[in-house]
Amino acid sequence: MYQAIRRRRDVRAEFTGEPVPDEALMRVLGAAHQAPSVGNTQPWDFVVVRNPTTLATFADHVAAARLNFARSLPGSRRDTFEPIKIDGIVESGTGIVVTYDPSRGGPNILGRHTVDDTGVFSAVLAIENLWLAAVAEEVGIGWVSFYDENYLAELVGIPAPVRPIAWLCLGKVTEFRQVPDLERFGWRQRRPLADAVRYETY
Ligand SMILES: Cc1cc2nc3c(=O)[nH]c(=O)nc-3n(C[C@H](O)[C@H](O)[C@H](O)COP(=O)(O)O)c2cc1C
Repeated sequence: MYQAIRRRRDVRAEFTGEPVPDEALMRVLGAAHQAPSVGNTQPWDFVVVRNPTTLATFADHVAAARLNFARSLPGSRRDTFEPIKIDGIVESGTGIVVTYDPSRGGPNILGRHTVDDTGVFSAVLAIENLWLAAVAEEVGIGWVSFYDENYLAELVGIPAPVRPIAWLCLGKVTEFRQVPDLERFGWRQRRPLADAVRYETY
């Protein structure tokens, strides 16, 4: 488990394009589906996208969102961002759109009555399970969030009130890099654990 946690990487540039066998895909989705969830609502669904036209259409949308972000940056940050790849939508060959359904489980969700976000937290836990299981399968995952939520919902036919919460690129990889891309390109470093752990008060 600790090895998988250490090896897990967000993958953008290392996809080979080789298809992931359906059995491996189902094992990874099975791991996601075993995640804990508030009130045992299991509010996630997984839309597997392999149609090349859909992948290319979404990649164009993401490229435009990337450009908007780049334009919003001050000069030196823009230069640092410039070489950073932010998706492998077409190269990976498979997209998994993870959705969150706030209506699943009806109106009285045990545990969500106080903290509504626990519903989304639950769907994100499914993603982390999927991400770690993919390491065991030597399959790379790249989380893409450069998109307009309504656009993605329409692209893959997600009805309200269900929300797309992630596009995951999934595919065989040449390697899992040891250092995250954002560190390698000088965007942001990891924080030491000692900075994150506090005792008794924040
Ligand atoms: C909620 C979320 C959204 C993310 N969105 C993107 C994205 O749009 N594009 C991208 O290249 N990486 C994205 N990432 C990946 C992060 O950049 C990456 O996890 C972080 O730099 C640490 O690298 P590592 O996952 O390889 O350890 C996202 C990660 C999370 C958790």
